[in-house]
Amino acid sequence: MKKELTIGLFGFGCVGKGLYDVLEQTELINANIKHIVVKDKSKKREIDASNFSFDPNVILEDDEVNTVVELIDDADAAYHIVVKALKRGKNVVSANKKLIANHLEELIKTARENQVSFLYEAAVCASIPIIRTLEEYYNTDSISKVEGICNGTTNYIFSQTDNGKSYAEALQEAQDLGFAESDPTLDVDGFDAKYKLSILIKHAFGLTVDPDQIFNYGIRHVKNQDVQFGKEKNFRLKLISNVIRDKNQLIPVVAPHFVKEDHPTYNVNDSFNAVAVKGLFSDQQTLVGRGAGAFPTASAVLSDISALQFDYKYEYRKEIVASSLSITDNYNINVYIGSTSAQELAAVRFEKTSEEYHGNDYHYKTGFVSLSTLKDINFNDRESLFLAVLPENNKGTLDKNDQTVIAEKTEI
Ligand code: HSE
Repeated sequence: MKKELTIGLFGFGCVGKGLYDVLEQTELINANIKHIVVKDKSKKREIDASNFSFDPNVILEDDEVNTVVELIDDADAAYHIVVKALKRGKNVVSANKKLIANHLEELIKTARENQVSFLYEAAVCASIPIIRTLEEYYNTDSISKVEGICNGTTNYIFSQTDNGKSYAEALQEAQDLGFAESDPTLDVDGFDAKYKLSILIKHAFGLTVDPDQIFNYGIRHVKNQDVQFGKEKNFRLKLISNVIRDKNQLIPVVAPHFVKEDHPTYNVNDSFNAVAVKGLFSDQQTLVGRGAGAFPTASAVLSDISALQFDYKYEYRKEIVASSLSITDNYNINVYIGSTSAQELAAVRFEKTSEEYHGNDYHYKTGFVSLSTLKDINFNDRESLFLAVLPENNKGTLDKNDQTVIAEKTEI
């Protein structure tokens, strides 16, 4: 039997307005928005001002509201709203990946204690139903890898710069189209992709991972020479969130990757995201869809609201096998590091160098670097360096007998 849902909506930005429009346009759901609470009293909005309230308690203290939809920007304010709503026995739908990644354990516990649902499909890859797929389809398969593009803004920037636009122009467009976070550093330095990866890890492996444990590096320092290196090898650059399981250890990484034509993300462009899941029995499957924007994100929120009509809850079934798992940095990754400074490049410790190139004002090395070395270097603050994972990231193996190749090539 479908439950009737009375919604209290927090936020009326890009996604909040998107949800409002989507609910107006669908007849398939038994839900109505009773209150919309926003922060800024003076902001001009597309629907009449009489629709808005400004006090969170209008929603939180209304016993008729059984569903709180939290779509605000500020993760700290969202935390207080979500915790209070769960404690008051309301089901909550949120799209706030930063809030969820940083407080997941506590939020799961609070939802369980109060016997309510806390759903967040929209928080990871917007329209791609990856959380519910991991929860329901992969609940018994043993997953060895989850990897993909989990950030629409950076993928949009790469697609537009490939088409000849400048980085600044492409970022501005991503902001105008509502893809980027209000602080776009979260997108371009890989934080947004890392919050999403930590949520994926919870559902794929049952393990709660503090996002601070995950290495994240973004796209801000990519230079023409780095792009040129990839083009010569028919690689494309993608910001990839990746976790692999090696025995009882998980190795999560968020970084630009050079991908080859056979990679599931090679042809995933614009604001599209893709997530490839590799299971012991199922082998590899890839889900592709819009990863940002008003309607794609609202569609996932709508799907969660719809699931609440049937009292759906995440079960976190992998938790029972998670106690043997841990995160490790003790792992070698096959990378390319380009640099405008020979000195800065030389200071990066390679376990094994495969190829080296030194030009007048540009240098690069490829080879294996340990993840702990990468973590010690704050790459997001190192203007002269650019790091990308190479396609042959063959499980961290390295043959010390291989010879380093000094690249003989013309100036990049
Ligand atoms: N800023 C995010 C992105 C929005 O670009 O993917 C969707 O989570």
